[in-house]
Amino acid sequence: MAKTPDYFVGKTILITGAGSGIGRATALVFAREGANVVSTDIDAAAAERTANEVIQIGAKATFAKSDVTMRAEVDAAVEQAIADFGQVHFVLNSAGAALARRPFLEIDEELWERTYALNVRGTFNGCQAIIPHMLETGSGVIVNIASVAAWVGGAGNSVHYASSKGAVNTMTMGIGREFASRNIRCLSISPGVVDSPFHDTTPQEVLDNYAALIPIERMAEPDEIAETVLFACSDAASYLTADTIKVSGGIR
Ligand SMILES: NC(=O)c1ccc[n+]([C@@H]2O[C@H](COP(=O)([O-])OP(=O)(O)OC[C@H]3O[C@@H](n4cnc5c(N)ncnc54)[C@H](O)[C@@H]3O)[C@@H](O)[C@H]2O)c1
Repeated sequence: MAKTPDYFVGKTILITGAGSGIGRATALVFAREGANVVSTDIDAAAAERTANEVIQIGAKATFAKSDVTMRAEVDAAVEQAIADFGQVHFVLNSAGAALARRPFLEIDEELWERTYALNVRGTFNGCQAIIPHMLETGSGVIVNIASVAAWVGGAGNSVHYASSKGAVNTMTMGIGREFASRNIRCLSISPGVVDSPFHDTTPQEVLDNYAALIPIERMAEPDEIAETVLFACSDAASYLTADTIKVSGGIR
């Protein structure tokens, strides 16, 4: 929560992957705080649904179809957000996926490249597209979604995914340090297991293994990650940058 009352009122967040899960939950939490939301997703209908939910809460929202792997679409979404609301104060790069679960020796080049295009290049695009605007306005906060998988490596089913999230954390650290003196903070959040459509294709035995590992004994709800995004963007987190916040229910 912010240090200053009404801190988020009238400020704008652009969210990638806003059509579902953590991105959608963050849109609704920021709407509750009176922020404007630019809801973007590769799935235009899902982005529009989230924007409509934000409007129902009483905040302002627009939406755009934007595939984070396509730089031109990310640039267009940023331009649209600036045209719609004048300034973008916060960006959440939530678009990402594990795409497929495979043992290490069965990860082919195509799965490796697609995973890195989405999770690493997509996050890179989301950061690089907004920073010139944040430099111009003199402030901004970028939050990237990584994963606790980065610490355990995805052995047995998702080395491609876990290593891509390690890259997100390293990129976040570099961006945060490079722009720290210019009032731009860049953080990542490393969630544990979150109950979202992300797990629609996760095999039951993998989910069962997770369940046994979580000290809090349940998955996170997407809004438990969203509330951390809100904190990370707030003036209460003014000394927090170039780092990741684990929201894992105690998983190590
Ligand atoms: N759910 C979990 O357990 C979990 C855990 C750790 C990290 N994460 C990370 O959190 C982020 C959000 O996951 P979620 O749980 O909300 O998943 P989700 O599947 O509910 O939502 C992901 C959203 O991203 C969108 N998307 C996919 N490819 C895209 C692209 N190329 N361009 C733009 N949008 C695209 C999807 O359409 C979807 O709306 C991801 O980066 C994921 O890796 C999730």
